[in-house]
Amino acid sequence: MENPFKFGTIVDAEYFTDRVREVEYICQFVKSANHLILISPRRFGKSSLVAKAVKLTGRKHISVNIQNVTSVQDLSAKLLREFFKVHPLERVRHLVSHFRIIPTISTNPITGLMDVSFQPGADGTVLMEDVMALMENAHSEKDRLIVVMDEFQEIMDLAPKMDRQLRALMQEQKHINYILLGSQESMMTDIFENKKSPFYHFGELMRLGKLPREDFYNYLEKGLSGVFHDESGKLADEILDYTGCHPYYSQQLAANVWQVGVLQPETKDVVRAAIEKIVTSHALDYERLWTGFNRTNRWILQRLATDRPLQSGEHRTSTVYSALKRLQKEGYVVYSDRYELEDPFYRQWIIGGE
Ligand SMILES: Nc1ncnc2c1ncn2[C@@H]1O[C@H](COP(=O)(O)OP(=O)(O)OP(=O)(O)O)[C@@H](O)[C@H]1O
Ligand SMILES: [Mg+2]
Repeated sequence: MENPFKFGTIVDAEYFTDRVREVEYICQFVKSANHLILISPRRFGKSSLVAKAVKLTGRKHISVNIQNVTSVQDLSAKLLREFFKVHPLERVRHLVSHFRIIPTISTNPITGLMDVSFQPGADGTVLMEDVMALMENAHSEKDRLIVVMDEFQEIMDLAPKMDRQLRALMQEQKHINYILLGSQESMMTDIFENKKSPFYHFGELMRLGKLPREDFYNYLEKGLSGVFHDESGKLADEILDYTGCHPYYSQQLAANVWQVGVLQPETKDVVRAAIEKIVTSHALDYERLWTGFNRTNRWILQRLATDRPLQSGEHRTSTVYSALKRLQKEGYVVYSDRYELEDPFYRQWIIGGE
């Protein structure tokens, strides 16, 4: 029997639940000539949502993850490689022949896909201009290309003034819908909402929340019922109470609950056992993270993990506040109606170590 839950990758089909309105919204949105910016905390399901929606549009679409891009040359090559997936080279050869720097294109014998590279040291600005012009010229206003850039905030590290250059190129294009995704809340808002940023008001900002409890409950209950029968509803509730309906952590916990049920059916408190299993398997990473934090950060994390107030007089309020902001920026701490640890299993580990 295969585990009915999945976490850590883009999920589709039977692993994907709800987001009906969001999928519909994105499908409608790209019918306009506008660009979409999707922001959420880490692992809320941005990539999965956008992958599903663009597939449903039936339009030509390409996708690059800026996190995996190492330079402007590399970005140009990756965009081009993706482009050849939707436009066979034979049909666009005449457009590629306009390139000022000719790419090396070969078929990878293992994947069967195109490999694209440029000679080392090729001018990134020229490459980007040519690739962007190619994407534009291969499409029309009636047949716009959808270009998804995931972890877009990483663009800022690629090269100095990269944001300015990219924005200038995108501005010229009329045949492309960009969907830009990012998870570092503050950086993404800085890029799109700061008046001084070249991407200021570049597109419509969309924020993604957690999954609605009822839908997620039904999804988990169904998946668990194969192993737990009439216990499955109770377990689904326990999982969601623990994770607060976080998409990734709920799937992770459910996958482990399911596994405990299969491998150790005699276990009494299955959710507790699954939590311990997860915490133990990550202990090494957690410890490494912990040793990287300074004392103030450790103190804050401990207070948050155990629901104790931060205003205790032990540290200056301004010190605590700026450390908290940094922890939030780095994704360890999130704020909804109060500050809390992002990862419930890390929280558990911290509580266990006190
Ligand atoms: N609609 C959904 N239904 C069920 N589970 C989901 C859904 N969306 C996301 N998940 C769960 O969350 C995990 C993370 O999803 P995804 O990678 O799409 O999120 P993300 O916001 O792009 O994350 P990251 O911040 O790491 O880029 C998935 O592997 C899956 O377990
Ligand atoms: Mg993602």
